[in-house]
Amino acid sequence: MHLSFAVVSWCLTFLAVSPVESAKCKTSPRDSNWPSVQEWTSLNLSIQGTLLKTIPVASSCYPGNPFASSHECSDVRAHWKYAAYHSRWPESNDYSVWNNNSCLPPGVSGYSKEKGCSVGGLPQYIVNATTEKQIATAMKWASDNNIRIIIKSTGHDLSGRSTGAYSLSILTHNFNHIQHQPAWKIPGKNKTIDVVVCGGGNNWGDVYTAVHRIGRTVVGGEDATVGLGGLIQNGGHGLLSSTYGLASDQVYQVTVVTSDGRHLIANDQQNQDLFWAVRGTGGGQFGVITEFVLQTHPVPANIVTGGLTFYPQDSSNATGNASWAALAGLASKIPDLMDAGITGTVMSITGKQAVSYAGLSEAVSGPAVIVSLTEFNSSTKRMNDTIQRLATEAADNGQASLNISVTNPASRSYWSSTKPNLLSSQSAGATSLFTSRLLGRPELYDVPREKLIHYLQRISVSQVPDQGAMLLFGLQGGPGPSSTPEERRGSVLPAWRSAYAHVMAYGSSFDESGDPQTGLEIGAKFYEDAKESVWRDWAPNTGSYMNEGNPFAANWKHDFYGVNYNRLLGLKLKYDPSESIFVTSGIGSDRWLSDLHSGLLCRIESTSE
Ligand SMILES: Cc1cc2nc3c(=O)[nH]c(=O)nc-3n(C[C@H](O)[C@H](O)[C@H](O)COP(=O)(O)OP(=O)(O)OC[C@H]3O[C@@H](n4cnc5c(N)ncnc54)[C@H](O)[C@@H]3O)c2cc1C
Ligand SMILES: *[C@@H]1O[C@H](CO)[C@@H](O)[C@H](O)[C@H]1NC(C)=O
Ligand SMILES: *[C@@H]1O[C@H](CO)[C@@H](O)[C@H](O)[C@H]1NC(C)=O
Ligand SMILES: *[C@@H]1O[C@H](CO)[C@@H](O)[C@H](O)[C@H]1NC(C)=O
Ligand SMILES: *[C@@H]1O[C@H](CO)[C@@H](O)[C@H](O)[C@H]1NC(C)=O
Ligand SMILES: *[C@@H]1O[C@H](CO)[C@@H](O)[C@H](O)[C@H]1NC(C)=O
Ligand SMILES: *[C@@H]1O[C@H](CO)[C@@H](O)[C@H](O)[C@H]1NC(C)=O
Ligand SMILES: *[C@@H]1O[C@H](CO)[C@@H](O)[C@H](O)[C@H]1NC(C)=O
Ligand SMILES: *[C@@H]1O[C@H](CO)[C@@H](O)[C@H](O)[C@H]1NC(C)=O
Ligand SMILES: *[C@@H]1O[C@H](CO)[C@@H](O)[C@H](O)[C@H]1NC(C)=O
Repeated sequence: MHLSFAVVSWCLTFLAVSPVESAKCKTSPRDSNWPSVQEWTSLNLSIQGTLLKTIPVASSCYPGNPFASSHECSDVRAHWKYAAYHSRWPESNDYSVWNNNSCLPPGVSGYSKEKGCSVGGLPQYIVNATTEKQIATAMKWASDNNIRIIIKSTGHDLSGRSTGAYSLSILTHNFNHIQHQPAWKIPGKNKTIDVVVCGGGNNWGDVYTAVHRIGRTVVGGEDATVGLGGLIQNGGHGLLSSTYGLASDQVYQVTVVTSDGRHLIANDQQNQDLFWAVRGTGGGQFGVITEFVLQTHPVPANIVTGGLTFYPQDSSNATGNASWAALAGLASKIPDLMDAGITGTVMSITGKQAVSYAGLSEAVSGPAVIVSLTEFNSSTKRMNDTIQRLATEAADNGQASLNISVTNPASRSYWSSTKPNLLSSQSAGATSLFTSRLLGRPELYDVPREKLIHYLQRISVSQVPDQGAMLLFGLQGGPGPSSTPEERRGSVLPAWRSAYAHVMAYGSSFDESGDPQTGLEIGAKFYEDAKESVWRDWAPNTGSYMNEGNPFAANWKHDFYGVNYNRLLGLKLKYDPSESIFVTSGIGSDRWLSDLHSGLLCRIESTSE
């Protein structure tokens, strides 16, 4: 009671001060034209009672449980790190900074005592849809009422693209069917393929389990809790992407509901422009995908893993330099390794982080490097040969001043090493800010070695100097994406087709319990000054993977969309004419200003189009 009174009077002040501005913004509860409770109720009636009013799950941690959460506070606190729980809690998203840390349980990352619990940056209402008709009705209603729409499958998004203040959220969870069709006819072709028809709200764990039962596999992400919706639409890499192409390259048909209430099938023969757009840059941008038709693949006979670790022997600059040289030598080998069928990761860590992560006896002045390789249909002998060779090269490049150890190769069944475990993902927390780049042969192999060493050192800087930073090479491009036929490529950033590694660079130090908007601005500035500038020197013509990238990069249009941007903007305005679905660094997002303080999303008048 008290609270809503305060909001009403604040609202009047706001309207009195700037009536014009508010008209250019998506409607918020402060506006007089925000729908009344009766209007929300009639929306609810028109969608079979599937409308939920947001109840922040951690409300039970605050005096009087102001929103009447039915979850015990102790339970919420205990599970806050688990991605699977944020997926289940209708209003939540994994990285709370993006919802302005609006209602956190005490003790978790991002919590501050003063903040209290509010709906704040979370959606206002949520449609727990079970039919496409309900999604269409709700989205059309929201668009007609100038209300922002967000789409949530799991809430995992690392750039907060599945949350937003004063929005209506569309949940896709109930679209969880999975059906095998061994001879699905490709539209327009006299040809069938083996597919799984999957509801757009599934996570990879459920799909992997289902295709395992029929003796097939699909290209998806490595974490079982990640959803199909965001991963596929924005490209998507995983264990099998370097073999068969990106996740979006596997899509033969989608079912989409648009913000103006259309229910469309898109494939090679119908709505081809929309079909192209959602295969690569579509997450939360063009509409809600309720179904994907995905090509399946044979299960690899086995999966062979192996690796090595190296780091400077001691704290001297000489051994530090040796380790940089060895990292550069290894990075230059990535294209050849991948052409020979290898995938995996190369992790480089510096500073204090290296000491704790790699168990060093003292701080060193070069990187600790952890190489984890995977090969399919292979042998431990072949893997052993590869890692022995890499270890020898590291020792040579490192002039005998590195500590090098080798992980013995192991061969397992594909299923035993990929069996989903929804509770293994405990990475949810407050912040998720980093930058990434796609690197190909020119950037890894052709570049002069001294230059490569210098780039690696520059990209590894950290905001707090001694803290150190992580650099993670994902061996996820290569033969698969480059051999994908043109008609299956969709709108994925073309740089993926010649990329070998997708490299994520960390290094910011976030004031977790501070104000989120301020923290993000500081973080964005650090990445822009310290890292984006390095990528632009090192790999000016490639770009970045938008699901795991820096949404604040100044060159985001080039980096995430490349030459496709203008065509995509036309399609965005065609399929979401009211621009109801906004995501940070989304297509046309520069036409809007979004702010975590006010929660408002407002149209910018002067944009160059
Ligand atoms: C622990 C972890 C591991 C990861 N591992 C990988 C990996 O191995 N490979 C990889 O490529 N990426 C990986 N990612 C990144 C991942 O692809 C993105 O976080 C992606 O956005 C997740 O999609 P989602 O649907 O699960 O999440 P959500 O947060 O629900 O959605 C992400 C975006 O997609 C939109 N969206 C979701 N569903 C739909 C739908 N049905 N229709 C329309 N729009 C939709 C949302 O609006 C939002 O913009 C990982 C992320 C995390 C947190
Ligand atoms: C929508 O209707 C259902 C069923 O009557 C009800 O349980 C739910 O609380 C309603 N939602 C809202 C936001 O009023
Ligand atoms: C976001 O948090 C800040 C404090 O960090 C607060 O001042 C602001 O009102 C919040 N905004 C919303 C929309 O909740
Ligand atoms: C959402 O809908 C599903 C299917 O109808 C239901 O099982 C679930 O309980 C609903 N969730 C909430 C929070 O009401
Ligand atoms: C389609 O393919 C089948 C078998 O591959 C063939 O028998 C048939 O004639 C083809 N039809 C057309 C119209 O090409
Ligand atoms: C592994 O071998 C099987 C059987 O020969 C084959 O069908 C499959 O495509 C191979 N998988 C990979 C990832 O190379
Ligand atoms: C090591 O290098 C750092 C920075 O390049 C320099 O400040 C330091 O003096 C060097 N230490 C030694 C022992 O040479
Ligand atoms: C380390 O490398 C830098 C240049 O990268 C060089 O200036 C320095 O002398 C080297 N230090 C040692 C101890 O080899
Ligand atoms: C490198 O290995 C030696 C011998 O095991 C050990 O004494 C030293 O502490 C190691 N160096 C680091 C930085 O951990
Ligand atoms: C790997 O190769 C090395 C060097 O050739 C050899 O000593 C070792 O026994 C091999 N290990 C395995 C598991 O094959």
